[in-house]
Amino acid sequence: MGEVNAGILGMGHSYPTGILTNADLASMVETTDEWIISRTGIKQRRKAAADEYTSMFAVRAGRQAIERAGVNPDEIDLLLCATTTPDQILPSTGCLIQAELGADKAAAFDLAAACSGFLYGLTLVNSMIRTGQCRYALVIGAEVLTKYVDYTDRSTCVIFGDGAGAALLGPVEAGRGILAARIRSDGRYAEQLYAPGGGTRLGSTAETIASGEHFYKMKGNELFKVAVRSMTDISREVLKESGQTEEDIDLFIPHQANQRITDAVASKLGVDESRIYSNISMHGNTSSASIPIALDECVEAGRVNKGDLVVLTSFGGGVTWGGVVLRW
Ligand code: ACO
Repeated sequence: MGEVNAGILGMGHSYPTGILTNADLASMVETTDEWIISRTGIKQRRKAAADEYTSMFAVRAGRQAIERAGVNPDEIDLLLCATTTPDQILPSTGCLIQAELGADKAAAFDLAAACSGFLYGLTLVNSMIRTGQCRYALVIGAEVLTKYVDYTDRSTCVIFGDGAGAALLGPVEAGRGILAARIRSDGRYAEQLYAPGGGTRLGSTAETIASGEHFYKMKGNELFKVAVRSMTDISREVLKESGQTEEDIDLFIPHQANQRITDAVASKLGVDESRIYSNISMHGNTSSASIPIALDECVEAGRVNKGDLVVLTSFGGGVTWGGVVLRW
């Protein structure tokens, strides 16, 4: 094969059956359905049961992506699990998924870039496929965020939900697949979304657990502005790099962080509602899983067709952000 691009050959997604509605949350903290919908667009989110964990959803999503791509698990060279909520610290959730899927020849690891994890993964795999270092790669975004959420903190507990999405990538002819991909970070904003406890800096003790140091803390209002600016700028950058413009976009999927963030980014880019996909009302913010779940829902619904120009953009804790332009 001559020059190749990396493209998505199959996708899958999975989430828990458990649903947490705004009414459920209103019985736990001082909030209302009206506040949550008007400030975030979220009506419900999925919540894992006590005996459910990240790799369960990742394996289901991954298996679906592999089957739809028509690839054998032992043909996969690389398996990458983007997550900030691993099953356990050691080994990586990627290795647990690799064993379950029978991806016997795949290198597997976890990628920690919060909500940008899936686009970080696509960007890495793009380079590896283009340079011939790998042929087939499985990129999964999987999270069980509800186990890191403090259900006494109304500013974070209304936002997050659980799920997994996966994409099997392989070589496609030049001109198709990933046309441009960029990822960035700025650790100066680290403490705007973080879990202070549970690591080597502030290890888990009875006291840190009692005071909830392992839970996610977020300065949502400050992040809001950075998220809008970062996703708008990087979308413009990757569009330019791919030789396309905002008018050429057929489908725009930003990270499902907050409906108001999606609306602000789309309005700055001049992308009208008919070209944007949003599922935040049903899933909330599923971090690294949000873009692959949304993209797979579009594939299943026939909202993306061969030849369409798809733009994905993300923003998350770190802070991290990214943009990917794909010719479907
Ligand atoms: N119900 C009712 N009132 C609430 C709630 C709630 N659930 N949460 C906060 N409030 C109150 C606050 O206490 C505050 O009250 P005060 O004015 O008396 O102090 C008021 O509402 C306004 O609070 P803000 O934080 O300014 O509300 P905002 O409109 O910014 O909405 C939100 C908060 C939804 C978190 C929003 O800021 C947001 O979505 N930010 C972006 C989050 C994001 O992008 N994170 C990064 C990606 S996620 C990832 O990486 C995993």
